[in-house]
Amino acid sequence: ELSFIHRYVPTTEPGRPPLLLLHGTGGNEDDLIPLGQTISPGSALLSPRGKVLENGMPRFFRRLAEGVFDEADVKARAHELADFVAEARKAYGLNAPIAVGFSNGANIAAAMLMLRPEALAGAVLLRAMVPLSETPKVDLSGKRVLMLSGQMDPIIPVENSSRLAAALGASGAEVRHKTLPVGHGLSQQDVLLTRDWLTNRE
Ligand code: MLT
Repeated sequence: ELSFIHRYVPTTEPGRPPLLLLHGTGGNEDDLIPLGQTISPGSALLSPRGKVLENGMPRFFRRLAEGVFDEADVKARAHELADFVAEARKAYGLNAPIAVGFSNGANIAAAMLMLRPEALAGAVLLRAMVPLSETPKVDLSGKRVLMLSGQMDPIIPVENSSRLAAALGASGAEVRHKTLPVGHGLSQQDVLLTRDWLTNRE
């Protein structure tokens, strides 16, 4: 028994990187499976359900208010999720996955990059914000990160997502950050840009 409720879809194209799919608040392990299949056909998909409940809605860490995080919980949950990734890699025989996270899922992926960089080969952060007020000292060289933000996102100020991109870049990650003319929800542009970015990796 692995430590998170999850869905696992085996690869049908072993050349494609495994994806760790991380849903937003109120989502579950099923939500991002179709997205994963669209952005990287044939990739193995590992999709856990967040263990924290907020009024019955699954999330990956506790928050005190919208955009105000319980940072001790962020850290503990990032480690817990990284431990699950290690377990699942062993159980399913996977390389380190690329995280694809939306909203709360993107925020825990950013925290994992900072606290447990070995857990991820890279990350796609869709509508992410700064997860920890102080970025831990970490070497992210060799990690590719795609960040897509919404110009009209009512939850995440553009300045905040730019600060996250800068922090990841300053830690050595190869960051591509684009702000789209959209809100917090995902758009067709997110899907196309993510697919291209995943396909053009060497
Ligand atoms: C979060 O709590 O991670 C952010 O506010 C995004 C959200 O889940 O709404």
